[in-house]
Amino acid sequence: MKGQEWYQADDVAAEYDDKRFSQGGQLIDRREKEAVLEAIMPVEDRNVLEIACGTGRFTVMLAERGADVVGLDISAAMLQQGRKKAKAANVAGTLEFLRGDAGRLPFPDDHFDTVVAMRFFHLADDPEAFLREMRRVSRDQIVFDTFNRFSARSVYNWALPMGSRLYSKSEVSVLLAKTDLTLVDVEDDFLAPYGLYRSIPNGLANAIRSVDETVGGRPLTDHLASVSYWNTRVR
Ligand SMILES: C[S@@+](CC[C@H](N)C(=O)[O-])C[C@H]1O[C@@H](n2cnc3c(N)ncnc32)[C@H](O)[C@@H]1O
Repeated sequence: MKGQEWYQADDVAAEYDDKRFSQGGQLIDRREKEAVLEAIMPVEDRNVLEIACGTGRFTVMLAERGADVVGLDISAAMLQQGRKKAKAANVAGTLEFLRGDAGRLPFPDDHFDTVVAMRFFHLADDPEAFLREMRRVSRDQIVFDTFNRFSARSVYNWALPMGSRLYSKSEVSVLLAKTDLTLVDVEDDFLAPYGLYRSIPNGLANAIRSVDETVGGRPLTDHLASVSYWNTRVR
């Protein structure tokens, strides 16, 4: 599993949000949250598990909207950041953060309505095993994202501290078939790589984003998008 050790470090966890979601990265944070909300709606009273929840960006957002949510992560340091965020948002009493391995979820079969995994599958050595385990504990829906093989990310992927696994659409389709999941919707986005957005000021990021949105959303540009958001149902 890539990054399993990397995310245990206190300084990595403390800097996680700032490094990725300040400056132009704010619009990535917004877009990812929008993708999760759109997929799950209506969120209120939905029983949700977020695996690899990290600093709780989605866990806290879902709790704020009335979901009954558990965030699970293998890193105590990342969970600590999540607990701080939940406290600041006044939802600490309505969600649960749990340390655990996404490969062996401590829940019975069909326990949740929805299981979410964001920014996780690029770390997975054996994505089928993780998806199968998510499928086991979900009675209805699985939502996740993937970083794409035929995208600008592939140019700098090798330089990332722990590398990352990139997926083609057909590879994910095979994974869905093997794990008995039905595709409801897939949205492709970000022709310009995430790494560019988060390193530039907001104003410039917004200008690049407008071009990205204008050019994107067509069959060819979808093929070159950095990320795909997958909304699937249990068969
Ligand atoms: C890139 S971060 C994503 C965090 C969060 N989902 C987000 O989008 O901000 C990846 C997370 O996966 C967690 N992780 C890695 N391997 C894991 C495993 N086997 N089980 C649970 N969490 C794991 C790491 O600790 C880290 O918090």
